[in-house]
Amino acid sequence: MAKQFYIKTFGCQMNVYDSSRIADMLQQKGYTPTVHQNQADLVIFNTCHIREKAAEKLFSDLGRAHLIQLEREEHGLKTIIGVVGCVVQAEDEQIIKRAPFVNFAVGPLMYHKIGQIIDDIEQKSDRQNFIYTDFPAVSKFDFLPENKAQGACSYLAIQEGCNNFCTYCVVPYTRGVEYSRPINDVITEAKRLLATGTLEINLLGQNVNSYHGEDSNGKERNLAYLINKIAELDGIKRLRYTTSYPADMNDDLISCHHNIDILMPYLHLPIQSGSDKILKAMNRRHNSADYLRIVEKLYAANPTVRMSSDFIVGFPGETDADFQATLDIVNRVKYIQAFSFKYSRRPGTPAATMENQVEEKIKKERLDVLQTLLFDYQTKFNKSCIGRTMPVLFEQTGRHKGQLIGRTPYMQNLHITTKRDNMNKIIDVVVTEATTNSLSGKEL
Ligand code: 5AD
Ligand code: SF4
Repeated sequence: MAKQFYIKTFGCQMNVYDSSRIADMLQQKGYTPTVHQNQADLVIFNTCHIREKAAEKLFSDLGRAHLIQLEREEHGLKTIIGVVGCVVQAEDEQIIKRAPFVNFAVGPLMYHKIGQIIDDIEQKSDRQNFIYTDFPAVSKFDFLPENKAQGACSYLAIQEGCNNFCTYCVVPYTRGVEYSRPINDVITEAKRLLATGTLEINLLGQNVNSYHGEDSNGKERNLAYLINKIAELDGIKRLRYTTSYPADMNDDLISCHHNIDILMPYLHLPIQSGSDKILKAMNRRHNSADYLRIVEKLYAANPTVRMSSDFIVGFPGETDADFQATLDIVNRVKYIQAFSFKYSRRPGTPAATMENQVEEKIKKERLDVLQTLLFDYQTKFNKSCIGRTMPVLFEQTGRHKGQLIGRTPYMQNLHITTKRDNMNKIIDVVVTEATTNSLSGKEL
């Protein structure tokens, strides 16, 4: 029987994308995927280091994986356990110290090595840990197998790493400096996704709008150029890009929201805090007025555009007045979705050693207040959709018979019950009900 692999993914969409590329590579090696960890000959955890909680989850999962490994061993079955992703880049030695049964640990820029590592482990009988955490001169994208559509919506990584060095963030240390894939590589991958069933492409990057890939003449091109090229491809119905950095929202890109109708009217543009003092301490290259100007320009380019954001509460030095400024910006922009977090001290980042850390209790109180306000705007927006007709791309079956779940242009989940075969299609739906987290509707 073919060997089986199981991958558990933590964290961001970049990790989801990476896991699917690793899965492609393993399938090329003859492994088949399984959702049952205890049947897997190879177990991989793709990890996130962005907040402390995310990193800690790994160790409880590894404990469980070890028990399964021992149990399988009693039945003469070998289990290879690998850890990949950002925790490896930051804590490779600690992983092996705390979990010596881990066979390999590979950082986010070295995934093209996994195939070779597995061959080596399979051939050796003695225990050995393989650790790969270089920042290589070559791009992993050139060595991973071709990306095929996973469904009607596909991610396409166009950029990786970050040069912004926000003082709270581990990404520049775990994913390295910014790298943009060449235009032709991205177009080739986009064509392949479209040829294998994709209707919607979501261009991914930690700092996607600072994209500056080379064209075939070696000239650097920006994200607006790339979006225009992809929008011309046969079969593309929807296009998105995430995550954008406010200071890199240039006029070319903003005008795409006017000129390109398949570009969805929903933009994830994290502000993090509404306080200029805190934004400065975070080393963000924008203040709240810059941010509001960008939002105004986006509305002018396309009045149907709506925004989402990330927020951090309780950054070192945040006072009640600073926190109020965050609430004020939420009241101005009226985000239709948002992610909000308590500041988490990450070793090695400048903010971790700032003196004026905020008490946990205050962080929690502020998060509660912020989330109540954010959910309120999200619910209001969802309810405002009742009675509207929206094009919905259906990509999942629901729990009940005939139930399908799809996405509206604004990334809302929408459920319908239908007898028709609407899977992987964009269908006009009248919205009939709305809650904070989802919509229901009926086909026209
Ligand atoms: N603590 C809390 N939230 C963080 N983020 C990044 N680093 C931290 C941290 N140390 C949040 C930011 C970012 C999102 C992906 O995670 O809001 O936009
Ligand atoms: Fe982290 Fe800031 Fe870069 Fe975003 S822009 S990945 S928050 S350093």
